[in-house]
Formats: sequence, C-alpha cells, structure tokens
Amino acid sequence: MEDAYIVQGGNVLKGEVVLSGAKNLALKTVIASLLFESKVTLTNVPKINDVHELLHLIKKLGATVEQTGNRVTIDPSTLRSSKPDLLHASKLRASFLLFAPLLHKFKECRIPNPGGCRIGMRPIDRIISGMEALGVKTEYQSEDGYYDAKLTQSPKGSYKFSKPTHTGTELLIMLGALGENEIKIENSALEPEIDELILFLNESGAKITKDGTTIAIQGVKSLQQTKPFRIFSDRNEAVTFATLAVATKGSVEIHNLNPDQLLTFNELMIKAGVKVEIKSDSILYEYVGTLKPICITTEPHPGFMTDWQPNWAVLMTQSSGVSTVHETVFENRFSYVDELLKLGARIEYVENSVNDKEAIYHFNTDDSKVLKQKIQITGGAPLHSAAIKIADLRAGATLLIAALIATGESVVTNASILERGYENIVDKISGLGGKLKRV
Ligand code: EPU
Repeated sequence: MEDAYIVQGGNVLKGEVVLSGAKNLALKTVIASLLFESKVTLTNVPKINDVHELLHLIKKLGATVEQTGNRVTIDPSTLRSSKPDLLHASKLRASFLLFAPLLHKFKECRIPNPGGCRIGMRPIDRIISGMEALGVKTEYQSEDGYYDAKLTQSPKGSYKFSKPTHTGTELLIMLGALGENEIKIENSALEPEIDELILFLNESGAKITKDGTTIAIQGVKSLQQTKPFRIFSDRNEAVTFATLAVATKGSVEIHNLNPDQLLTFNELMIKAGVKVEIKSDSILYEYVGTLKPICITTEPHPGFMTDWQPNWAVLMTQSSGVSTVHETVFENRFSYVDELLKLGARIEYVENSVNDKEAIYHFNTDDSKVLKQKIQITGGAPLHSAAIKIADLRAGATLLIAALIATGESVVTNASILERGYENIVDKISGLGGKLKRV
C-alpha cells in the first residue's frame, strides 16, 4: 500500500452523511470498561486506527475483546498485566488513561509517556499532579520513559487543575469512581465526552455529579453494566463534512448529531454566509453564495474547538477576504499550512501581540519559546493540484478537503494518520460525489 489518496478535485459535493461514533469517547469508554467487574458492551464504536490500536493494547494486557462490526464487548476479568507495551501505548495519547483501571486492579502499574498526534509537547504534568493529590505515588524513570505508579489506599481528597485538561479530567474521574472516599475535582474541562463518560459510569453504579467545572465523586465498590452503551456521534467528523461540502460550493445533510455540541461552529458558519438548517435528526449545511472571511480563536468547549480550526482554515481559503486563525489550545497545530501553500493557498504566520501568554494559552508557556500561534488567510486564491503530506489527524482531513477543492489530480500521503480518527472516509466522500481512491 502506498498509504495515500489520489484525489480528482474540482467537483461540487452534495448529499447526506451518517456520522460514525466519536473517537474521543470510544477510546475513553474502552479504557473505563477495564474498571468493571464483568463484561461491558459498547455499540457504535468507530472502526478507526486508534480504536484498533487500543483494543490490541488491552488484549495484550489480558482483556478479552470481541468485536462484531461496530459492537465491542470487553471482559476485564481476564486482565493479567499492568505494563502496557511501549510500541502500542506510545502510538496513542489516550493510553495514559490506563493508569486508572490498572491501579485499581493491580495497585501498581508502569505506563510509558504518552504519544499521540504531533500537535505540541503535550506533557502530562497537571495529570500527574492530580493523581498524586488523590493519593497515587508516581515516579518517572527517565532511562526508559515509563512512569511507575502505586495506589496504596482508596483515592481521596481534592484537586484543582491550574488549567483545564480534557483527558486529565477523565483520568481523575476514572480514578475516583472506585473506592470508599469522596473526591472533588475543580476547574475541570467541559467537553461533552466528559459528560458522556460520567453517564456511562453512573449507569453502571458510579456516583458522580458535575456542577459547572466542579465534579464530585463518591467512590463505589464495583461497577456492573446493565445495558449496552452507545457511543455518540463524532462532532469533529460533522465539522469536516460541513466544511468539505460548503468549501466545494455544495451542501450536506448530516445525520446523527447533537446540535448543542456544535453551537459555536454553527454560529460562525451562519456568520460566514452559510445556510445552516437544524432539523429534527439532522443538520443541513448549504453554500448559498460568497463566503465572508471570519476570524476565529480556538478555545476549549464550549468555544470554537481546536480540532475544528484546520478545517476552518481551508474553508477560509475560499472566502472573499482576509481572516485569521488564532490557536490557543495546542502550540503546534498548523502542520497543514506549508502543505496548503503547495496548493496555491495564501497563508502567512502573523505576529500576535499577546500580553499575558499564561492567561491566554492553554498549554504551558515559557518566555524562551518562539510561538507561532496565528495565521492570516487571504481568500480567493484558486487551489491547484499538488502532492501533499499529512502530519496529524485533523490536518489530514483538512488536506483532503483542500485536494477535493483544488482543480486536477492531487496526491495526499500518510492516509493512515487521517484514518486514526475517520471511519470509511473514502466511501462517505464518494457518496457525496467526491472523486478519490485509496492506494
Ligand atoms: N496540557 C499540559 N499538561 C497536562 C495536560 C494538558 O500542558 O498535564 C496541555 C496540552 O498539551 C494542551 C492543553 O493543555 O496544550 C489542553 O490539553 P487537553 O489535556 O485538554 O487535551 P487532550 O486531553 O490532550 C483531548 C483530545 C484532543 C482535543 C482536546 C481538546 C483525546 C484523546 N484528545 O486532548 O483531540 O483536541 O482534548 O478538546 O480526547 C484529536 O482528536 O485530534 C485531538 C487532538
């Protein structure tokens, strides 16, 4: 396999799309399933590379996994190892969430420093401090890059994140769900996947409540599933298809999604001049005339999500003027810029006069670092074919959209990075009239 897409661009894409299950919920519920006493069934689990890697990883730890289509049943009672394999764990950012079930099951574990997309340093300092505050002893072994962790008593106490973290919040929820004590987490993140993880655990006997950014947990002895849990639809996939259809001057009706998760995106699409019609079980996005340039600044939920900005940037190459994208969540999420330049887009990095970096940016700042957090896009330059290369997941979807807008045949390499998070992408795009093949 060449690991690439060959794309014939320049067509107007129109039609309907049924979304797949959300990657960033599926990964967490698979890991949380290991906290249970007996079998757990998840439905609508997307068949994507990240899920495949994770299932492989937990099987190597001893869990029994049955997979039929999008239905996955996990039996955690056969777990026998508390040391995830470096090769697979390092491919997945979410692998460090294994601290919670492995500590509960074995009282100690060894977890490698996490990997994931190359979108920044992505340290886990806040997460380690949070675990320590709840009673976990950790030690980093710099010679092999593993964390040794020990849990000598039920988690207890409280922790306030200095800045919110999505997976950090999920880890502390999983850690606190089992045990005998009360736990409080403050300044937690607000992403909808977190609410859904809480629902998944509460349906199985956990006692977790959330009030704004404060989460209170009363640990319980055990978790038992009473009915299969369905993974909700992927809002990031929805944004990709909405921008793809509109950027090619077409339309798409997207099924299976909760409009409340896309409020900020929909607001800005409307501002840009796109028709957005919310129906009972779908949303229609339709290009109805010149796209206005709209500047965005990324923020954690409920703001304009960082995962959406690469898609937004390519949409803005089709607008009638100058717009900017300011990334505040990760410090390296512009890997797509050089590739879009090869297609003829007009994008440049611009100076950003930020007075208080620490207050604005969600990553750890340091005065010695040169930050490139803002780009300026001049719309209206026609995109032409080129060979372009994917460096991270969301950049991947962006480059595919760009190749579908561009006239002529483009080659987009590193397709498997995109397929970490998008299920059946070629079939879905072909269903809208896009011309591409996977080679
Ligand atoms: N951070 C630290 N220290 C920590 C934790 C986080 O410096 O201990 C920094 C991060 O490096 C980042 C910022 O804080 O700059 C926010 O990170 P957060 O922890 O909230 O993000 P995450 O949990 O690593 C998840 C998703 C991302 C999504 C973000 C924001 C998963 C597996 N990943 O990342 O999804 O962009 O939340 O919602 O859930 C993707 O799907 O492509 C993706 C990157």
